[in-house]
Amino acid sequence: MKRIFTIIALTATLSVAALANDTKVTIHADRGTQKIHKEIYGQFAEHLGTCIYGGLWVGEDSPIPNINGYRKDVFDALKALQIPVLRWPGGCFADEYHWTDGIGPKENRPKMQNNNWGGTIEDNSFGTHEFLNLCEMLECEPYISGNVGSGTVEELAKWVEYMTSDGDTPMANLRRKNGREKSWNVKFLGVGNESWGCGGSMRPEYYGDLFRRYSTYCRNYDNHRLYKIASGASDYDYNWTRVMMNNVGGIMNGLSLHYYTVPGWSGSKGSATNFSNDDYYWTMGKCLEIEDVISIHSSIMDEKDPEKKIGLLVDEWGTWWDEEPGTISGHLYQQNCLRDAFVAALSLNVFHRHTDRVRMANIAQVVNVLQAMILTDTKGTGHMVLTPSYHVFSMYKDFQEATYLPIDVATDSMKVRDNRTIPLLSVSAARTADGSIVVAMANVSLDSDQNVSLALDGLNKKASAVSGTILTANAVTDYNDFAHPNRVSPAEFKGAKIAKGAVTAKVPAKSIVVIKIK
Ligand code: AHR
Repeated sequence: MKRIFTIIALTATLSVAALANDTKVTIHADRGTQKIHKEIYGQFAEHLGTCIYGGLWVGEDSPIPNINGYRKDVFDALKALQIPVLRWPGGCFADEYHWTDGIGPKENRPKMQNNNWGGTIEDNSFGTHEFLNLCEMLECEPYISGNVGSGTVEELAKWVEYMTSDGDTPMANLRRKNGREKSWNVKFLGVGNESWGCGGSMRPEYYGDLFRRYSTYCRNYDNHRLYKIASGASDYDYNWTRVMMNNVGGIMNGLSLHYYTVPGWSGSKGSATNFSNDDYYWTMGKCLEIEDVISIHSSIMDEKDPEKKIGLLVDEWGTWWDEEPGTISGHLYQQNCLRDAFVAALSLNVFHRHTDRVRMANIAQVVNVLQAMILTDTKGTGHMVLTPSYHVFSMYKDFQEATYLPIDVATDSMKVRDNRTIPLLSVSAARTADGSIVVAMANVSLDSDQNVSLALDGLNKKASAVSGTILTANAVTDYNDFAHPNRVSPAEFKGAKIAKGAVTAKVPAKSIVVIKIK
């Protein structure tokens, strides 16, 4: 069935239209009002499995090439990705993390057991300095997730002072003693994580009061201005958002939301690479449901905050499959195939549409955990692969801080398992600072190409050049591994043409295309 997906301003409405053979996209080039926050391209690094130890950090004495202990190949790949913000140290880990264990001479740092993730013993060699210095090297904003579940108000208040005070204060002097003279730029501060679950099993009423109390003592030192983020709902828990808006409101700058594309929380979640076409289409439906979830949370926030001053931060999202056979239980190491790349593309397109409320999003996670950007061989061979999801984030880089452009899309749709309907072409468009128009098109159909005609409405000049990149593979189950690191990798897209100022593009089945029109 052909439907028109009309995306005006930041809301999407559906209406049935006449059947047509080609997909028509109208880009309202003169109607952009909102910037796509670059933080929507945020990443998440938790002390979980080999995300930190073996992923980001190997230590200075490692045989694996490193820059002061940071794994060099991973660092270079992340630098190239231009990641805008990195969340750390958790996740669930954050609410058992005591930051003072991770500062000072490494030989004096106590070991700890990572109770959330497989009981692994960690040596605390990656702590506050190692994280914040990494952010400086990557030129990204740090997002610190503070311990509310098992930590004290004093502990969190002192961490903020340690990181951001430049005065003659006890914590700033301790930092200086540990080798760092100047404060770091820390803006984003999470006050607890999943406080309804691993972060303390609280009710929203109780957590709301704790947020008020903890955040009171997280001071703005010198020129630093914290952006305080409250632990928010998971998925469909609209009551959590309502209570937080009623009881906390403008005391928080942002409220988080976690949404995973996961078949369920008990039993098998399914293989990351061995699945049916039916499973694939189900995944697209579950992934796209994040749009309804965001809209509902956002409308609850609108009741108290119609000017949308409080951000909704989707600070955990992505696919969650069974762990790879033979890997350590609790380390959440999963492969990543073309299906995951579609989840990345479709989700980013949704976030763009809600950039008035969605202030940040952090895919889980950056290396070796869940829907990772990068997989490393931590056994010392030095192998690393970029996943299909990495390639999507790379292809979408031009959307960061571009102006979101409303579009109308007339495309086929299909019914998938669990009574969801998905459009077969997911599209997003934006205007970049140099006046180019960037368009992302993800054709989720496994067997039909899409002949897309793009009308540029309100553009005061004719399109004169178009170039692009495509990500596809022989099968949607294809992935990159150490033996085949480039099985799924981007290539030049030659299917876009300009005729008399109009742009057409042939988007092959199961492909993600990003074009730039000048
Ligand atoms: O990303 C893995 C875990 O998922 C995080 O630690 C937690 O916040 C969520 O449940």
